[in-house]
Amino acid sequence: MPLQGHINPMLELANVLHHKGFSITIIHTQFNSLNPTTHPHFTFHSIPVELSRTEASTNDVMAFILLLNVKCFEPFSECLARLLSDDDQEPVACLISDLLFSFTQHVAENHKLARILLRTSAASSFVAYAAFPLLLEKGYLPIQESRLEEPVLELPPFKVKDLPVLKTKDPQKYYEAVSGLKKAVEASCGIIFNTFEDLEGNSLATIRQEFNTPIFPIGPLHKCFPANTSSSSNLLSQDQSCIPWLNTQAPQSVIYVSFGSIATINETLFLEIAWGLANSNQPFLWVVRPGLVHGSEWIEPLPSGFIKALNGRGQIVKWAPQKNVLAHQAVGVFWTHNGWNSTLESICEGVPMICMPCLSDQMANARYVSHVWKVGLQLEHGVDRKEIERTIRKIMAEKEGEEIRDRILMLMEKAKICIKQGGSSYQSLDGFVKYILSQFAIQSQRQ
Ligand code: UDX
Repeated sequence: MPLQGHINPMLELANVLHHKGFSITIIHTQFNSLNPTTHPHFTFHSIPVELSRTEASTNDVMAFILLLNVKCFEPFSECLARLLSDDDQEPVACLISDLLFSFTQHVAENHKLARILLRTSAASSFVAYAAFPLLLEKGYLPIQESRLEEPVLELPPFKVKDLPVLKTKDPQKYYEAVSGLKKAVEASCGIIFNTFEDLEGNSLATIRQEFNTPIFPIGPLHKCFPANTSSSSNLLSQDQSCIPWLNTQAPQSVIYVSFGSIATINETLFLEIAWGLANSNQPFLWVVRPGLVHGSEWIEPLPSGFIKALNGRGQIVKWAPQKNVLAHQAVGVFWTHNGWNSTLESICEGVPMICMPCLSDQMANARYVSHVWKVGLQLEHGVDRKEIERTIRKIMAEKEGEEIRDRILMLMEKAKICIKQGGSSYQSLDGFVKYILSQFAIQSQRQ
């Protein structure tokens, strides 16, 4: 799935499986193409799927995903058929597909190939997606503005406003697609989650109860394999200049701000964020991705002289080496959109979060961060500069912030333990490898 938040965990999973002795072949689109030289230990096949500028605009993520599913079907099938009929190729053990690439189900069936899904988001948001038929029946969906603060009684701890919905031109199609989740997952041989038992045990238990499909929580994937900058999977080039700047900052003093790879914000919010950061008097590192602000190429809406007036206290970059930034001792808080990768990365480095979810699963993740694990604060009362300043102060300088830091450090330790020998993800990964081999044995008998 050619989106940053999906590419990263998929390549991390590929690294983990390669480490376990599997050969890895990656089929990817020409659109947002991968660079094979960053992963010389994998074989890459690019399929001719290009998108126009308008099609590639991810403002309507649902339409974008549906379009990709249509466009990829034929070239992907052809590519896979070529690989399977090539006598020089090693036998294919299984196809691992992003859950959002639903078309791969038919392709795998055609080739009698075991197909396993990777879910790149949290188990808890998955539970919410799986409940869509119920949420529609009970009238929680479509969401009504007047009910945003209501608790969803059938789905604690969510409120109506936390439900993972997307703004799309055809909401009905969206509900139908999500409502088909159970069937789609049960047509697969298994589903991998980038999470761990100590973090999402309850949601994983719910999924085990509701689905007949084997599930494998083997995360945090990015920690299962030693980080290596040369195997980067970034679609935008990382601005490394922020690291020497972080080296000059006091421990835990910097606010790192990033809203991921898809979310966009309007100019008013962009300016409130800018003033909130400026007025906080804390050093900050802010990722403003080109296209983040509606109608702007980059940071043109900032008043002239804004950056100069900061006197080096604020850095703005187009894309950061996020994992290294979060691991840097100067970073004290992560103001995030709560994409699942960012949320996990923050937990793994013990960095408290300020949550500003923007779309889909991010709202559900933010609810867990702020109200279940209590490792972050949510900007709840409208995002204006005063509220931003208050929240920064609370998390960086008040007792509540200290307690949040203690809790996230404990979670960080649990994340470290689960991937070590005997840990829950370690064992789940072992089980997963055995499972692939058993599926392959069944498959070979069938062919
Ligand atoms: C969206 C969803 O919200 C997320 O939950 C889903 O799993 C994937 O798609 P996205 O906006 O891509 O997420 O955010 P996130 O999941 O946080 O992934 C962004 C990735 O880009 C992270 O791995 C992060 O480390 C990386 N990143 C981000 C950088 O390397 N540099 C940056 O400057 C910003």
